[in-house]
Amino acid sequence: MRAWIDGNLLSDASGPAVSVADHGLTVGDGVFEAIKVVEGLPFALDRHLARLARSASGLGLPDVDDDAVRRGVGAVLESHDLPLGRIRITYTGGPAPLGSGRGDHPPTLIVVASAMDEPPLSTTVATVPWPRNERGALAGLKTTSYAENVVALAEAQRRGATEAIFANLAGHLCEGTGSNVFYVVDGELRTPTLDGGCLAGVTRALILDWVGGVEVDEPIAAVAQASEVFLASTTRDVQGVSRWDARELPAPGPVTRDALATWRRREPELLGL
Ligand SMILES: Cc1ncc(COP(=O)(O)O)c(C=O)c1O
Repeated sequence: MRAWIDGNLLSDASGPAVSVADHGLTVGDGVFEAIKVVEGLPFALDRHLARLARSASGLGLPDVDDDAVRRGVGAVLESHDLPLGRIRITYTGGPAPLGSGRGDHPPTLIVVASAMDEPPLSTTVATVPWPRNERGALAGLKTTSYAENVVALAEAQRRGATEAIFANLAGHLCEGTGSNVFYVVDGELRTPTLDGGCLAGVTRALILDWVGGVEVDEPIAAVAQASEVFLASTTRDVQGVSRWDARELPAPGPVTRDALATWRRREPELLGL
């Protein structure tokens, strides 16, 4: 692992580096990105920087200094043998009083790179009982307030799955803890709309561009009738779902296989600093 914080590459990437009063640490006042690395090159960096800027603005944090982020990304990747990895960018409110109010220190910017395993072609998911709040102040923002996802994923793992699936307050399919969901009904590839509260996944947007698909909000119970399902995310790419709760599904099914083939063919177009 390599870590860079506020302009400096750390000599010990897992050593102490952040103030105990950092608002990201004390109250989850921060935003982040996870970026895939292939053969030492970041994937879709511009898209991730655009989303980081949107998340920061949505949270009311100062504008992100893109040049500083790019310097951090370059620093953690330089001379780093990383055939497959991920970069994590974290941008927080910086040192602040111990309550919810912000302080007057500058934000904290952290960039970390570490190795990642190739995702399996298929996996299993479990529906969790807690709703995504599509009307909340944080809807659609990639914030470091991820403890709801931690609880949901632990519940899914307890039930033998690798991802938890949320409905939203309207009872519509929304997303996973760290992935968007695609499914096939009558041969049509579908995914929930952004209005339903899911994150605007970089993988999701590229699949809609490269493969196609319809954005639609439907009750999660209706979606359970899909003929195939796949997850889309930075760490999973296009990953078939072989079991959703008790229901077995073909995985990867034919539409999923086509989407994955397109993904593999086009991914190199977006690799680079
Ligand atoms: C809640 C949530 N939904 C969806 C995604 C997928 O987004 P991306 O394709 O940009 O990784 C993520 C990514 O981590 C996420 O945290």
